[in-house]
Amino acid sequence: MYERELKETARALVAPRKGILAADESVGTIGKRFAKLGVPSTAETHRVYRDMLFTTPGVEEFISGIILYDETIRQESLGGTLFPRLLAEKAVIPGIKVDTGAVELALHPGEKVTQGLDGLRERLAEYRSLGARFTKWRAVITIGAGIPSKACVSANAQALARYAALAQEAGLVPIVEPEVLMDGDHDQERCELVTLGVLRSVFNELARQGVLLEGMLLKPSMTISGKSCPRQAGVQDVAEATVSTLRRTVPAAVPGIVFLSGGQSSELATAHLNAMNKLGPHPWELSYSYGRALQEPALTIWHGEQANVAAAQAAFYHRGKCNSAARTGSYTPELERQQ
Ligand code: 13P
Repeated sequence: MYERELKETARALVAPRKGILAADESVGTIGKRFAKLGVPSTAETHRVYRDMLFTTPGVEEFISGIILYDETIRQESLGGTLFPRLLAEKAVIPGIKVDTGAVELALHPGEKVTQGLDGLRERLAEYRSLGARFTKWRAVITIGAGIPSKACVSANAQALARYAALAQEAGLVPIVEPEVLMDGDHDQERCELVTLGVLRSVFNELARQGVLLEGMLLKPSMTISGKSCPRQAGVQDVAEATVSTLRRTVPAAVPGIVFLSGGQSSELATAHLNAMNKLGPHPWELSYSYGRALQEPALTIWHGEQANVAAAQAAFYHRGKCNSAARTGSYTPELERQQ
């Protein structure tokens, strides 16, 4: 029933030069980030921080949509407007994280499965009434000795597909996020092999559940060396391996692929996206849905102080500008220095 709207929203989220800001950290995750800076973590400090990001002048030049958390979608900006309305007024599409987190997969030590399907239909209807037009569900795959298991990959792929079907039924574009974690000492080849298997499994399940490919986005991790691997693949290698993995697994009907940053530094995440777009044209838009890689410099500068808001917004704007340039392969180290 929502077919046309889903296709339009998905395309708008990967409009030229734009990408998505992931600002959907759970209360626990944002608490950890704030704790590193000594900033207290309360609903009010979360609101003040997100207000700083969302009211950055010109944010709509490079941000097509923002993924919110349940707490945030119900909060007002400091100016007294509900956040989803504030975003919609700037033509930034409000989105919402709808999974309820990853827990230990039974009988599979070291592996996780994402929860949140129970009651999801009702939650999606409420989120749509609150102004959300797209959603996110994150599955986590860990690489290690003998893992990921088939059980872990298939359980997560099935949950992703069932979520995506429910989201589309509710008129919300699903962002399907199977994240292969960077943690570990595995090399890039291992990451490539695991990612291939995960994406094959995810697209099989999406097909089985009848998900409309034109009305969804894929949010994958890049094909990258493990964080503690002594041999780190360079930018060009990461770009080539990631694009070849995606070409082998992601149907051309999917309008866009929006990467997560997964713990890469802000500048490296931008450089990787830039190098991938230089390898184009591709069958899909290659864009960003970064959390840390868009927010980190701004968060560090902000530090919980009203006096730092303008400087933090400038840092956020700068990261947006750099990633926007990476959408066309026109990011350069000089641009990085032009803040
Ligand atoms: P990072 O870019 O910090 O990995 O966050 C993206 C995200 O939404 C993870 O679910």
